[in-house]
Amino acid sequence: MKVLGIETSCDETGVAVYDTDSGLRAHALYSQIALHAEYGGVVPELASRDHVRKLLPLVRETLREAGMTTSDLDGVAYTAGPGLVGALLVGAGVARSMAWALDVPAIGVHHMEGHLLAPLLEDDPERGRPEPPFVALLVSGGHTQLVHVEAIGRYRLLGETLDDAAGEAFDKTAKLMGLPYPGGPQLAALAEQGRPGVFRFARPMTDRPGLDFSFSGLKTQVLLAWKESDRSDAVRADIARGFEDAVVETLSIKCERALEAAGCDTLVVAGGVGANKRLRARLDEMTRKRGGRVSFPRPQFCTDNGAMIAYAGALRLAAGQHGDLAVRVTPRWDMASLSPVAPLRDPGLEIRD
Ligand code: KG4
Ligand code: ZN
Repeated sequence: MKVLGIETSCDETGVAVYDTDSGLRAHALYSQIALHAEYGGVVPELASRDHVRKLLPLVRETLREAGMTTSDLDGVAYTAGPGLVGALLVGAGVARSMAWALDVPAIGVHHMEGHLLAPLLEDDPERGRPEPPFVALLVSGGHTQLVHVEAIGRYRLLGETLDDAAGEAFDKTAKLMGLPYPGGPQLAALAEQGRPGVFRFARPMTDRPGLDFSFSGLKTQVLLAWKESDRSDAVRADIARGFEDAVVETLSIKCERALEAAGCDTLVVAGGVGANKRLRARLDEMTRKRGGRVSFPRPQFCTDNGAMIAYAGALRLAAGQHGDLAVRVTPRWDMASLSPVAPLRDPGLEIRD
């Protein structure tokens, strides 16, 4: 089954084709970073308009790269939420219209399920694809969650952030030290030049039991350290390193606890912060020590992309699930409300999108 995937939940237009027989056939991404940079954050209305401009050309480009035409498609998947409502509606409108015109089923995908399944998108030649049950760490700009994945589509929230998401903390911390938008990857790059241990920030909420996170206080600690410093480039790099180490260690401690609580030895990590090199290394070390393993998507599939949506949609469409003809999005959407993908052929499993 060949499925076109469309992602427009925020500031990235992503398109891909996933074939349930031969895997990922093609993918393309257009990032709106330059458009929003002068405002220091995503401007929702500008995001929607740019998705309108870029989506169809990207669909054509992706199909060309896959050596396919629209008539080869067996289904269309699109991000139906959570996200910016106007941006989501662009993807949903295009996806539903294409599916209707081609007379194929369409399905609205939960953006975080897309992230969560991204580590399963491609074969890991060394370790194979992880299979549920496992624990997933979802770390993006909008979410920081630990989820027990009992089966695909069956998700139990173990813990989440009480305030800022980890990516948001990276972005805000970068901004207060004067780094350009979007700061997360820039802060991570700067941390590479910083010395470990020069600045030591708290590991929030690790001194008590539980699997929730809180990252907003860390940002304040960095602000104080930055204000009191000589604000030189070297100090900025040392602070960046101290901040990154604090976030990475906090995430690692909570992941280890979550694996224990869920009785799993497999961890999968997804979402933009999953591209962070130090986090990848640390979680690899932690899971190996436990005799387990960690799986990440390749860095380009950690951040928003169409491939993860094509893949998650393909799994559900192949199981016979699809939505009705309405163009509907769900800007706030609890992942625990999703229906399981297995058992595969239960006709009562149509999901609402
Ligand atoms: O998953 P994503 O592309 O979008 C959301 O759904 O939020 O994640 C974007 C987030 C941003 O906050 C960005 O700063 C962060 O991921 N990010 C990183 C890195 N690359 C992206 N944070 C730390 N280190 C990185 N290398
Ligand atoms: Zn995302």
